[in-house]
Amino acid sequence: MRTAIEPFRIKTVEPIRLTTRAERERALRAAGNNVFRLRAEDVMIDLLTDSGTNAMSAKQWSAMMDGDESYAGSRSFYRFRDVVQELTGYKHVIPTHQGRAAERILFTTAVQPGDVVLNNIHFDTTRANVEHVGGEARDLVIAEAWLPSYVHPFKGNMNLDALEAVLRAEGERVSLVMVTVTNNSGGGQPVSLENLRGVRAICDRYGKPLFLDACRFAENAWFIRTREPGQADRAVAEIVREVASLADGMTMSAKKDPLANIGGWLATNDDELAERCRNLEILTEGFPTYGGLAGRDLEAVAQGLEEAVDHDYLHYRVRSIAYLGEGLARVGMPVVQPFGGHAVYIDARTLLPHVPPLEYPGQAVAVELYTLGGIRSVEIGTVMFGRGRDGRESPAAMDLVRLAIPRRTYTQSHVDYVIEVCAAVVARAADLRGYRMTLEPPTLRHFTARFEPLR
Ligand code: F0G
Repeated sequence: MRTAIEPFRIKTVEPIRLTTRAERERALRAAGNNVFRLRAEDVMIDLLTDSGTNAMSAKQWSAMMDGDESYAGSRSFYRFRDVVQELTGYKHVIPTHQGRAAERILFTTAVQPGDVVLNNIHFDTTRANVEHVGGEARDLVIAEAWLPSYVHPFKGNMNLDALEAVLRAEGERVSLVMVTVTNNSGGGQPVSLENLRGVRAICDRYGKPLFLDACRFAENAWFIRTREPGQADRAVAEIVREVASLADGMTMSAKKDPLANIGGWLATNDDELAERCRNLEILTEGFPTYGGLAGRDLEAVAQGLEEAVDHDYLHYRVRSIAYLGEGLARVGMPVVQPFGGHAVYIDARTLLPHVPPLEYPGQAVAVELYTLGGIRSVEIGTVMFGRGRDGRESPAAMDLVRLAIPRRTYTQSHVDYVIEVCAAVVARAADLRGYRMTLEPPTLRHFTARFEPLR
């Protein structure tokens, strides 16, 4: 059969409040035209993020009841640790309340002021955490990644020549190399095993540690299985294990592929690094057997990890994202190709050629999606990345609007509705105007900025 059904049925439902256009216009004005500032109750289809918005399974909920809330040495910690170790092979697993806490602990421990961290593309919090400790975050993704309509099976790959060139020229400044799987800021694009092997070989030549930013490791492994020659017969869990074996450790947000609502971890094989990270963890996150999480949260992550590598689930997951992407392409919406593993990205710069990047075309699209259909998306473009460290504002490489799909949360008719709203946005594209920022916070400005439409 051609129809890929959701491989689950729904046991608990959460009502969606249907709003009118007038209500949405009022809500937007109160939010300074920034969809981050909206109340979630005023949103009908919330595609702001796939992070922490997953629907949990009956087994996850029942595991939560069984959570051991002991301060130290909780049984739930050991279950969590065993599942992560089984999946990744790493010796030390340090739980954290979410991904950025793992980043902060790693960079505080391993990056000195003036150091450089290399990545395919740093996610915004990853970049901010590198810069917070005085480091420089540099992106070395392949050139194809910056061309929204260019089709490449592994558009998240690292540019190996560029990586080698940086390490040769200024290797002593580079404290670690990271690879983000999938590459969220570049369109949720996967990284191939072959590319990771290449990165590993270069890191070995220059004696540099390699870490994965592994939030969407299962979706990445599914793309490897379905797109990389010779991988079609392997279990996703086995591919995940090989990917992990190529790195020295990982930072992780359990709010993504592990199907939980909160959680994360830092994992490494390095005894000395782990010791220093655990000491820092006690200072800010908590004792290393709970790391800012309740025992029940550790249970939800452990159970979620087992479900995250299930082939029927991953087939449905990646297929349902492609269904949205194909629908958008059909109604004339320019989208990043190929479709990502957790989201479809609208190319707002191409949709609105009359809105210059410094008037934030992505912002204009995000506001219109909400006004017309109550859909919340997120701008990933000049609003998010336009303010450089030198204080100057310049256009981001791309002006994208991400429609991120929470896992197991929305059905196909929700997605059909999103496609219909997007068709209406395409029809109105020529009338959309840009925006001006009226309040600009000094860091990570996109979260709390306020905007005014330009006349
Ligand atoms: N790395 C990547 C690639 C991410 O996508 C995120 C979060 C993080 C690290 C940080 O993890 O949120 O648990 O602290 N991405 C979310 C998003 C917020 O919407 O893409 P966190």
